[in-house]
Amino acid sequence: MTEENERWSDSGEVEPADLLQHLIDAGLTDKVIRDQMLTMMIAGHDTSTALLAWVFALLGQHPETNTQLLHEVDTQEKSALLDHVIKESLRLYPPIHIGNRRIAEEMDFDGNKVPKNERLFYSIYLTHRDPEIWENAEDFCPERFAHGRKTPPMSYIPFGGGPRACIGAAFGQAEARIVMTRLLQTHTFEFTGHKVHAHMGATLEPRPGVMMKVMRRAVVS
Ligand code: HEM
Repeated sequence: MTEENERWSDSGEVEPADLLQHLIDAGLTDKVIRDQMLTMMIAGHDTSTALLAWVFALLGQHPETNTQLLHEVDTQEKSALLDHVIKESLRLYPPIHIGNRRIAEEMDFDGNKVPKNERLFYSIYLTHRDPEIWENAEDFCPERFAHGRKTPPMSYIPFGGGPRACIGAAFGQAEARIVMTRLLQTHTFEFTGHKVHAHMGATLEPRPGVMMKVMRRAVVS
């Protein structure tokens, strides 16, 4: 007998059912299951991996922050600096760099009329780097998040905004915190100092990747 969320594997062992199995068990159609899996793979996976890759790229470029962060994850239960590093990474390199909306009412924008029903794309990347909003907008400065947000509404939108904002925002940030804490506590990351540039694909990717020498740490707490 297995629990409802467990399955027999091919090798005869009991293993927990994965998301796909849950969707099949829920009796959804193949099309809905395919859509849900695509959402999880792109909205829920590629965004999170892009965020983690950028956090590593930024730590590699800012060794003093990296040292301070290592100290915090070793000595504190919850590192405030890690939160700020994640937020600042989402500001400088938002994994979803562009958003879109349909215009509900005709509006003026920068001297131009935008008609009702027009589809409009807005740049999350450029909003996050607008020097009229952000002090030293191009600089990596996690401390800017240390005293709460002081910028106007909708100026920090890594997860979009309004009723259709990202459903996984809290999950995505909690996941990044847990994964980063565990990785930093168990491994050392030696950055190779190579150049990384932002490629605007489906997500904002660090190209050609973030090369690091990864070693298991001697003492694991
Ligand atoms: C760092 C991680 C993530 C980032 C940066 C991110 C970013 C975004 C952004 C910018 C949007 C568009 C919101 C808008 O138009 O206002 C969005 C929508 C969405 N995200 Fe995320 N996301 C992340 C993680 C996740 C995760 C983990 C999940 C699922 C578990 C998820 C599921 C979704 C879904 C379903 C939507 C569409 C919501 C709707 O249209 O109502 N995302 N995300």
